[in-house]
Amino acid sequence: MLEKLVEIIEEQLNVEGVEITEKTDFQNDLEADSLDLFELSMAIEEAFEVEIPSEELSQFTTVGSVIEYLKANGMELPGLVAGSDVKIAPIVSSKRALQVILRYWKKHYDRKPDLVVIEGPKAGGHLGFSGEELEKYETENYDSVIEEILTLTKPEGIPVVVAGGVYTRQDMEHCLALGADGVQLATRFVTTYECDAHPAYKQAYIDAKPEDIVIVKSPVGMPGRAIRNDFLEQVEQGNRFMKGCRKCITTCDPKTVPYCITQALINAVEGRVEEGLLFCGSNAYLATKLEHVQEIMEEFS
Ligand SMILES: Cc1cc2nc3c(=O)[nH]c(=O)nc-3n(C[C@H](O)[C@H](O)[C@H](O)COP(=O)(O)O)c2cc1C
Repeated sequence: MLEKLVEIIEEQLNVEGVEITEKTDFQNDLEADSLDLFELSMAIEEAFEVEIPSEELSQFTTVGSVIEYLKANGMELPGLVAGSDVKIAPIVSSKRALQVILRYWKKHYDRKPDLVVIEGPKAGGHLGFSGEELEKYETENYDSVIEEILTLTKPEGIPVVVAGGVYTRQDMEHCLALGADGVQLATRFVTTYECDAHPAYKQAYIDAKPEDIVIVKSPVGMPGRAIRNDFLEQVEQGNRFMKGCRKCITTCDPKTVPYCITQALINAVEGRVEEGLLFCGSNAYLATKLEHVQEIMEEFS
């Protein structure tokens, strides 16, 4: 059994010259990321003719990260909506992520996404990129990744929406010219009269300069983009803002994290910005005033 498993691991993870024993840790010893582990679990399923429910992946040494990854990437979405006519749309940031989703959904559910959202490195909130990748995309264009992902969706007839950094009509036209069917905007709508965030949150966008928009490592273990404020500076200096745990996410350790992400986001939206995490997209600094949703829709239509 171990021998066969070692063979699969070596092939899937491309490892050579490393002694693989029962104690080998996928992440620390073999530097496997969550996608590697997921692909590995599928190869194991095929070789041993077993089903590995995603909840049980936690028994592999990847612990919660794989499960969080799977949930975050909607691996089990088809199961959740089975028997209903609810449409499902995974959010992906790389061709590889979509490849894994398409393979898994086909194998386990015989289902395709109804829509794919490609979320690029300029998006707001939690991001599906490593810190290194985000740095790379500061200078490198993401368009080629969009085009690569479209090579998977077009033959399947799956519509695609591009998100991240779409702020103007020109940005939308650029995405459509690449082959997207639509765009998803978040940041632009924050500074609208109709947005229900607190005025102080909107004002932080209006006041932000490009250099105020930073990447933070969120307590859930993912990078996120936010406006640098007193709160973030205090966190950098080692201050903690933990006041109870909402048990919202398994990859968060309330004993060590500097603040509760849920509370920090609620504080921001409700205007307690001094203890708030001000998530935003990379274009947030473009806002100079509040506008109406109708004006944005007219610009885009
Ligand atoms: C304040 C803010 C909060 C966000 N929160 C979430 C979220 O909870 N879940 C999610 O999938 N995307 C979230 N996003 C990402 C958006 O859904 C969207 O894909 C992306 O930000 C679009 O890029 P843009 O902000 O440059 O328009 C958030 C974006 C912003 C700006």
